[in-house]
Amino acid sequence: MAASRDRKQGLMEPGIDAAKPHTARIYDYYLGGKDNFAADRRTAERALQSWPAVRTAVRENRAFLGRAVRFLVAEAGVRQFLDIGTGLPSANNVHEVAQGLVPSCRVVYVDNDPIVLAHARALLTSSPEGKTAYIHADLREPGKILSDPVTRATLDLTQPVALMLVAVLHFVPDGDGPRQIMGALLDALPSGSYLVASHVTPEHDPEGVGGLERAYQASGLPAQARAADEFADLVFHGLELVDPGLVLVSEWRPDGTGPRPLAAEVNWYGAIARKP
Ligand SMILES: C[S@@+](CC[C@H](N)C(=O)[O-])C[C@H]1O[C@@H](n2cnc3c(N)ncnc32)[C@H](O)[C@@H]1O
Repeated sequence: MAASRDRKQGLMEPGIDAAKPHTARIYDYYLGGKDNFAADRRTAERALQSWPAVRTAVRENRAFLGRAVRFLVAEAGVRQFLDIGTGLPSANNVHEVAQGLVPSCRVVYVDNDPIVLAHARALLTSSPEGKTAYIHADLREPGKILSDPVTRATLDLTQPVALMLVAVLHFVPDGDGPRQIMGALLDALPSGSYLVASHVTPEHDPEGVGGLERAYQASGLPAQARAADEFADLVFHGLELVDPGLVLVSEWRPDGTGPRPLAAEVNWYGAIARKP
């Protein structure tokens, strides 16, 4: 009985450690998902005490991701996506949005969390005309991602690709060489490719966001918020920012004219840029 319950909860999947919090499962908890464990919820609750609107922020980030894919397919003409730091399957995964517009779109998903691997089947429901694939790999090893036979078989790297780094770079602290990682990824993509990135910032609520960083770090999770200029310099240097530039994710071409959350609730920048 207990074993089957455990299996259902993913506890028996190889490589999944339920006792240690993971960012993918914490994010799933914020989004109201069920693929999280007590250790994840403890870290998330500590973060929520410090930044109570983090759920609003996460929803805004997820909505930004959807609008970004829509823009890339419908306006920029992109048909290939490399989505690193995919997260657990949720509403509006990249291939669902992209193939909903153009069924021949191709997507490679990449994450380093074994629980995302365990759920990857839900990300591989491609339209017959397109293709989706999943690689269990680490953003900090871009060479492995780019040379992986799955990447090579799914994406044509002589044609424009949208590199998606949505809500993942704040898990790559300066000591892990994010500049070299960005260089390696962008060098491999042809002119006319796009980069989508979003990142938590301390600027609008240093106390609240600092508390979340400390909650993650105390749980052994790397976390580094970056201010707009640091984010821009690290990620978008040498690229052409798409209008409206680097803004709060909630302000990037929002749908409708309804009220939007305050900057100190969102604390999260996003932008899209084109490689010249
Ligand atoms: C906050 S979630 C973002 C999910 C999705 N991109 C979104 O914005 O809705 C961050 C994801 O990045 C993954 N991640 C964190 N560090 C990573 C790394 N070094 N390499 C690959 N994936 C990583 C986590 O496992 C998690 O699934």
